[in-house]
Amino acid sequence: MRVHPLIAAAAMLLAACQSGDAPAPQASKALMVAPVLDSADAVDVHSYAKPLEARVTHVALDLAVDFSTKRLSGTATLDIQARPGASEIVLDDKGLEIAAITTSDGKPLAYRVGANDAILGAPLTIQLGAARKILVRYKSAPDSGALQWLNPEQTAGKKHPYLLSQGQAIENRSWIPTQDSPGVRQTWEAKIRVPAALTAVMSAPKAGEAVSQGDSRTFSFKMDKPVAPYLIAIAVGDLAFRELGPRTGVWTEPAMLDKAAAELADTEKMVAAAEALFGPYQWGRYDMLVLPPSFPFGGMENPTLTFLTPTFIAGDKSLTSLIAHELAHSWSGNLATNATWADFWLNEGMTTYATTRIVEAVYGPRVAAQQVALGIDAMNAAVTENGGSEGADTRLHIDLKGRSPDDGLTDIAYEKGAAFLRTIEVAVGRERFDAWLKGWFLRHKFQPVTTSIFLADLRQHLVRGDQALEAKLQLDRWVNQPGVPANVAQADPGAFAEVDTAVNAFKAGTQPEAAAWSRWTTDEKLRFLTRIDQRQPTGRLAALDRAFNLSRTGNNEVRFAFLTLAVAARFDPAVPALEQFLLMQGRRKFVRPLVTSLAEDKEWGRPIAARVYARARPLYHPVTTRDLDKLGLIPPALPSPLTAK
Ligand code: BES
Ligand code: ZN
Repeated sequence: MRVHPLIAAAAMLLAACQSGDAPAPQASKALMVAPVLDSADAVDVHSYAKPLEARVTHVALDLAVDFSTKRLSGTATLDIQARPGASEIVLDDKGLEIAAITTSDGKPLAYRVGANDAILGAPLTIQLGAARKILVRYKSAPDSGALQWLNPEQTAGKKHPYLLSQGQAIENRSWIPTQDSPGVRQTWEAKIRVPAALTAVMSAPKAGEAVSQGDSRTFSFKMDKPVAPYLIAIAVGDLAFRELGPRTGVWTEPAMLDKAAAELADTEKMVAAAEALFGPYQWGRYDMLVLPPSFPFGGMENPTLTFLTPTFIAGDKSLTSLIAHELAHSWSGNLATNATWADFWLNEGMTTYATTRIVEAVYGPRVAAQQVALGIDAMNAAVTENGGSEGADTRLHIDLKGRSPDDGLTDIAYEKGAAFLRTIEVAVGRERFDAWLKGWFLRHKFQPVTTSIFLADLRQHLVRGDQALEAKLQLDRWVNQPGVPANVAQADPGAFAEVDTAVNAFKAGTQPEAAAWSRWTTDEKLRFLTRIDQRQPTGRLAALDRAFNLSRTGNNEVRFAFLTLAVAARFDPAVPALEQFLLMQGRRKFVRPLVTSLAEDKEWGRPIAARVYARARPLYHPVTTRDLDKLGLIPPALPSPLTAK
């Protein structure tokens, strides 16, 4: 019988630990270490690590946060497991300033930083000798790609500075010297020293109370479950906390607390719904951090502490499927984690499917059916944008060699992935599918997963040799071929019956009634704005804006959909609102398409883009500016005195 690669890797690690080469920890401890997959499709082209030779099992950070130099500085102590005879370990390093690497008792170890790659950073190779615990003394660079340092004016309270991190996909190597690969799970702990007025939060349970000393305070955290390193996250600022339920709560700046807590009032219900669907919540607490508006994503599923954009706050809880999404990652993504970024759909597609299931349980089948229908439209748009039904990047399992993992961040992963799972659900029936899904999370909890593991698991536990079902599902076609297979489960054609009638009426010249518009849910408004012709005469946009105040609505998804139409139509009256929108928030999903379309419209849009981007750039996180800088809107920055060597 062929030994399952997981077992093979675990056995190898165990053998390594018990061999004479390494100091022998107890076998029970070795077994707790999550295995590294050894199959060819689990090789991570976005990491320099060679985890089958030597791998990091635990990271202990001891860092001071210095707002004046924009640096984290201190030490990372790494526990290592190595193959017998392994003499070196390779870590990922992006711009770290390393002062020394030593054994835990202070003996210097030789190390070398290899050639830098613009996407990946550089390999950091350390000569281990017999050492299995090493200490890296280092500083992050002021231009670290994961970290954003905000001035007081960029916060809600305007009094204190703020630090936030975004690790996914491969940014954490710019502040943590470790093996930054989702297939190499690590437990971790941290001590973080901050100015006394500020609070540090991280994606792990607190380990004791903060300790004050002079004008600083030290916060401690400990994550005893093995996680992918992209899930280590930090924020530091003037933060307050409010309980929402027995195991849910929200952190944010004091000025934001009431609004944030009101918007998040359904969270505890969502956790209960998710547990009923996917099995026990494994992370203890589910808290959320509502960040300043420069946070580059809608949400980020950092374990125990989801990070959220404040732009989801619409005042009526209408954008809270975002919370269902980040919460669902507590299973799909954080328990069973894509082994490499080529399998990103296993994180996001499964999460998008799971989101709808939570939304259905909490808000009912109609809302869920509408979100599915919006998802199918988004999937079809993504196929078009990625080369059509033959486009290589419309495959779920994609080839990212030599490219940034960001290239896989499309609605193929999210919506084609979700449509695939929905197709299986419809084919086998909900009861069987749900039993399989719960089993999937149980069988793969705290482990990396690949598309081939997914297919094997599905065949073993769901298809079970049923040839007719196998033929019906077209599993291989779904994951390895471009386009959308013909067996895709369709959206409910009646999900948006009323709005679709209004879309047709609009095409024939009639604007929706004010009463209808104000009755429509956010999803219905989005259906309308994305289904009407995307190139409208300016007169029609003016009439819509006059009637429904779309360019300045407090619902940012609706506002974005309208501003997209405004840019396409060169609708001058919306330009002030557009500028304001681009200056008040830095969510990449909103900012990137708007600035890009402006920049591509040489005569009308580009001057607007250049003017706004020059002002907005300092507000945006590095993961947002990295893309927008490529548009060449502002002259390349002179080296800043902070980064100049
Ligand atoms: N994990 C993602 C965000 C992410 C993906 C960051 C890849 C960096 C690289 C998060 O869960 C997400 O999908 N956020 C979406 C939310 C939406 C789909 C509800 C976002 O930020 O828009
Ligand atoms: Zn997600």
